[in-house]
Amino acid sequence: MHTETETASFPFDRTDALAPPSEYELLRGTTPTARITLYNGTPAWLLTRYEDVKLALTDHRFSADARNPGFPFVSAALRASVGHKHIPFLRLDPPEHDRLRRMLSREFIVKRIDALRPAIEAIVDRFIDQLLAAGRPADLISNFALPIPSAVIAELLGVPYSDHEYFQERGRRMLSSEYTLEQSAHAVVELREYLGALAERKRAQPGDDVLSRLVIERELTGELDREDLKSSALLLLVAGHETTANMIGLGVYTLLRHPEQHSLLRADGQLIKGAVEELLRFLSVVHTGVPRVALEDVPLEDTIIRRGEGVIASIPAANWDPSTFPEPQTFDIRREPNRHLAFGFGIHQCLGQPLARKELEIALTRLFDRVPTLELAGEHLFGPEKSVYGLHQLQVTW
Ligand code: HEM
Repeated sequence: MHTETETASFPFDRTDALAPPSEYELLRGTTPTARITLYNGTPAWLLTRYEDVKLALTDHRFSADARNPGFPFVSAALRASVGHKHIPFLRLDPPEHDRLRRMLSREFIVKRIDALRPAIEAIVDRFIDQLLAAGRPADLISNFALPIPSAVIAELLGVPYSDHEYFQERGRRMLSSEYTLEQSAHAVVELREYLGALAERKRAQPGDDVLSRLVIERELTGELDREDLKSSALLLLVAGHETTANMIGLGVYTLLRHPEQHSLLRADGQLIKGAVEELLRFLSVVHTGVPRVALEDVPLEDTIIRRGEGVIASIPAANWDPSTFPEPQTFDIRREPNRHLAFGFGIHQCLGQPLARKELEIALTRLFDRVPTLELAGEHLFGPEKSVYGLHQLQVTW
């Protein structure tokens, strides 16, 4: 049993660029349900074992509904982004969650995403051209990793890419702990207004995109109201952006730092799928894990998590649990099985995962095909830490 005094401030920093915070290893062994303190002094439980994390994500006694008192927010920015009275289905429970998610699920089935391949390839090629045109050395993050997911989601959703600075900047304010609650809340209001105006234009002139289909097939039929439509569109715009961008940047960095794994991949392009899965596990960019709140008392390990208490299920800790992943610190693109939790688990498991996988496969394959001499150069800037871990700058040459 643990006492209230044994609390650690969460989130922990990463001291090694390519490993989760070292605290997890210790806690997993000694205190699998650890008491932590969040940014505003609120206590919560931290889960670090693979099986416990999976349980928190599948057991209906743990809720994802951010309106529950006790819901653990890891930063003011995240609190603000769901503080609005209309919250995205990521932070709702069934039946509301299921109803809203179902309206989008067919947009993300593998077959549909496979059909996007030529569009994604064209986008990736465009940013490889931009990177090469920037001259040596160039920053891979601003020229390649960041703009790709932004352009892809803009294309899919039907948002003009020319507005990317507007939605990227506000998306950052919604996620980053650098901003105050007011700044983040204001970003939510602005993006909702922007998406509302865009939905109005789609209503008058629908296109072949997700937002148009939501307006025509769901809103006009009375299934979906405008506020929920804006929440779902906002979730898509923000959820897949920073996560995928950080995976592309860190993915390139990790491969360049592991030349022998990189050579294996270069010699056999079929290994790309395994390489993407291992990058997802190894990097676990959802740095602050996923938040849940207990709806009733739940006995777990040597503790009872009381009704109303917040739980952080740590994805990075679960993905490095040696009881599930032998030698978790070894980056092995042929790791098999690799049942990582990088996309979460259970009913909230990432809706965009087929898209994220496709983007990563195409971006990494084409970059190394077209620029085979790519290597690291100069400074690499990690952090400051946000809820999603990543590189702010990655200088490369070729
Ligand atoms: C490598 C990139 C990505 C990672 C690591 C990632 C990770 C995650 C995780 C861990 C969750 C579950 C959160 C929870 O249980 O509370 C999630 C949910 C979600 N993700 Fe992703 N994601 C990625 C890319 C994307 C993309 C590209 C999109 C869409 C364009 C997207 C859309 C969503 C949505 C809509 C949800 C909410 C699902 C629900 O609540 O039912 N994600 N993602």
